[in-house]
Amino acid sequence: MSQRPATSPALWSSRFVFIMAAVGSAVGLGNIWKFPYITGENGGGAFVLVYLACIAIIGLPLMMSEVMLGRRGGKSPIGTMAAVAATEGRSKSWVGVGVLATLAAFLILSFYSVIAGWTMPYIVSAMSGGFNNISADHSGELFGQLLASPGQLLLWHSVFMGLTVLVSAGGVRHGLERAVTKLMPALFVLLLILVGYATTTGHFGQAVSFLFKPDFSALTAESILIALGHAFFTLSLASGAMMAYGAYLPKNVSIARTAVVVAVMDTGVALLAGLAIFPIVFAHGLAAGEGPGLIFVTLPVAFGQMPGGSFFASLFFVLLLFAAWTSSISMLESLVSYLNEKGVGRVTAAIGGGVAAWLVGITTLLSLNVWSDVTPLDMFSRFEGKTLFDLYDYVTANIMMPIVALLIAVFVGWKMKPAHSASELGGWHKLWFPVVRYLTPVALLIVFYFNLK
Ligand code: PFF
Ligand code: NA
Repeated sequence: MSQRPATSPALWSSRFVFIMAAVGSAVGLGNIWKFPYITGENGGGAFVLVYLACIAIIGLPLMMSEVMLGRRGGKSPIGTMAAVAATEGRSKSWVGVGVLATLAAFLILSFYSVIAGWTMPYIVSAMSGGFNNISADHSGELFGQLLASPGQLLLWHSVFMGLTVLVSAGGVRHGLERAVTKLMPALFVLLLILVGYATTTGHFGQAVSFLFKPDFSALTAESILIALGHAFFTLSLASGAMMAYGAYLPKNVSIARTAVVVAVMDTGVALLAGLAIFPIVFAHGLAAGEGPGLIFVTLPVAFGQMPGGSFFASLFFVLLLFAAWTSSISMLESLVSYLNEKGVGRVTAAIGGGVAAWLVGITTLLSLNVWSDVTPLDMFSRFEGKTLFDLYDYVTANIMMPIVALLIAVFVGWKMKPAHSASELGGWHKLWFPVVRYLTPVALLIVFYFNLK
């Protein structure tokens, strides 16, 4: 086992820093952009409840598994799967799990960068007072104009991917440690302020019941799959990110306690985002099922009416940009750490991976305008009407990630010696083991079954 000593400078400097890096990876567009809009599209309360259940019984044990594998393997996700499968005397083909995870991370990065790019023109508008007293209609128009402009989208997509490559090329740990320890708490506070504002809209109660009063008639097999996929996406699981970061985790840190902290913080941010956004949606008669534009249309309206709105709006979109940045860096890490192991220098690997993801991202960006009618998989009812962007999102979160998750659960639950996982997880192993061995795979298979029917 290529275990580094706990004092090696290659490791995170403390449990706190690992938590902040993992939280930096977890908290991002998934919480603030995606969670509210998919909750709106999938009917609210019941969806939120399923999502929370997925976090607790599938996401959390899987995060423990991935961090554990990462720490044991001490390599890139691909290298880790190869190394751990070898120590466990298992088939070489387990490396495929690492490959699939890395591919998922790569595809996510390609469209994530496009969406993250949206925050930058919003920062510009906010700073120039462009949201002052803006109406919901006008806000919708501004967002529409941004999507209709491939040039603008390309510019911001390029800037964002450049920023991602920059940190990745310099070695993830330097820039990240500092950014994440200051900016994440600031984002949290700002969300609290937004929630405070939302309580004054007169529609807070309606939003609370929308988010927390389950109406199970609104739930379909597909929305359960979407809730599951989002649990992986939002916790940065099944994409190598947590495995890659786990490889830098000192031996004396409790994996389970750390994973709990990360999951709780991630979930807290998502719920706060929901509580901030839906009161505004209802107060202005906007559509909860509006789709990916939801926060970009609603939040400017709220900021536009708030005292100090330009300041808070600028700060909010800056922090959202940072949150997305610390996530995108971790996505690229799966691939970069692998290429690095294969002898490619870090800078070359970061640039190569970034340029490739940037190119694929251009197809996402075009699917928002000139290719908005291109829906190549219409012959399958599940993919009907989905643009390229919709497909990348759907296939990664709802197909690739659940498959990777199932394979990891099978590996740690059935293929790995329990003594080995116990040596990593300590007393928590008793609880974790039956969950990953039985509960997680069975839950996943049930969701698959009802979606394939
Ligand atoms: N967890 C991130 C978010 O919620 O925005 C997204 C993400 C990061 C997914 C890293 C996958 C990944 F490897
Ligand atoms: Na998240």
